[in-house]
Amino acid sequence: MNILLTGGAGYIGSHTAIEFIEKGHSVVIVDNLVNSNHFAIKRIEEISRQKIPFYNIDVADIANLDKVFCKHKIDAVVHFAGLKAVGESVQIPVKYYRNNIDSTLGLLEIMEKHNVVNFIFSSSATVYGNNNDIPYNENMLAGNCSSPYAWTKFFIEQILKDVAVVNQNFSVVLLRYFNPVGAHPSGKTGENPNGIPNNLFPYISQVAIGKLSELKIFGNDYPTKDGTGVRDYIHVVDLAKGHVAALEYAEKHKGAEAINLGTGRGYSVLDIVKTFEKANNVKIPYQIVGRRAGDLSEYYADASKAVLLLNWKAEKTLEDMCRDTWRWQRQNPNGYDE
Ligand code: NAD
Ligand code: UFG
Repeated sequence: MNILLTGGAGYIGSHTAIEFIEKGHSVVIVDNLVNSNHFAIKRIEEISRQKIPFYNIDVADIANLDKVFCKHKIDAVVHFAGLKAVGESVQIPVKYYRNNIDSTLGLLEIMEKHNVVNFIFSSSATVYGNNNDIPYNENMLAGNCSSPYAWTKFFIEQILKDVAVVNQNFSVVLLRYFNPVGAHPSGKTGENPNGIPNNLFPYISQVAIGKLSELKIFGNDYPTKDGTGVRDYIHVVDLAKGHVAALEYAEKHKGAEAINLGTGRGYSVLDIVKTFEKANNVKIPYQIVGRRAGDLSEYYADASKAVLLLNWKAEKTLEDMCRDTWRWQRQNPNGYDE
């Protein structure tokens, strides 16, 4: 199949491109590089040993997007493009709604014009909101979201469900990611945050390499096994393989289906620090500070629907996630800035 990856130069998109190519598919990437770097495309090409058609355009620019669909016969779309910083979305909500929703609407219009009906969407566990019990399962009512970012995912899911009602040929899988971490085992691609990282894994690896002096652990008074926050961390290569499985499913089915991509297992911040130290033989100095506003104490996936419908489950261990993160950081101390 010829698969269009919007946002394919980003963290998850680049790893997914590699897995699709590995399975014999072709990919076309559209990305405006607002949160990524063109060297990521070069690295995908190095790993997969082939040239990737890449277009530096905004997905909301439908005139140029139309040209991409005219030039390439697209069979399916995986829509990663979007702004994703939860805290920033609270500060600049209009920009988040405009970017994430406009780009999806433009994409749907052009897909309809070209009669493309298979769609995979990057949703998020944040759509479960603040009041659901753990583990989160797909039958729970989503909503009650805690940030504009999460609401964009919630609204886009609804838009896609509405399209599936009227277009009987449309097939969409709403993949609700938990916490993607890690890097490609080659060390050539990984997460490349701008400035000081917000997220735990890139922060820890920058402490390990000496760019940051110590990790600040946000709270040790949560009602969890050791008081620190618990999340469902999933290796980005497992997550990428989940997209390959989701597309195989989408081809054979119609309608909209929400599916969690997680491991089903929660680890605390202290679990991560200890495992990272042991797996990589490094020291992570840390200090306990106050809770971060907006953080939930603990959540993880009920991962059974993905097994049932996609015949997919995460296989890599927490040690793999820590080892691969560290390999990427060591080999690329300044990310993609070659
Ligand atoms: P990322 O920022 O690395 O990748 C997103 C890519 O989209 C970037 O390359 C960016 O340049 C591009 N982009 C953004 N707006 C665009 C637009 N209008 N037109 C063209 N390109 C545009 O993020 P990621 O971690 O790879 O996340 C991919 C998707 O998965 C996002 O939609 C994100 O919200 C979602 N997601 C991520 C996480 C996570 O923790 N990383 C968790 C849940 C969901
Ligand atoms: N944490 C620290 N110190 C840090 C960074 C994080 O203690 O410097 C803690 C957090 O408090 C939390 C855990 O580590 O308990 C994980 O935090 P992350 O920032 O890595 O991840 P979040 O769970 O907050 O959010 C992530 C992504 C979102 C996505 C969500 C989906 O950032 O974009 O997962 O579940 F929507």
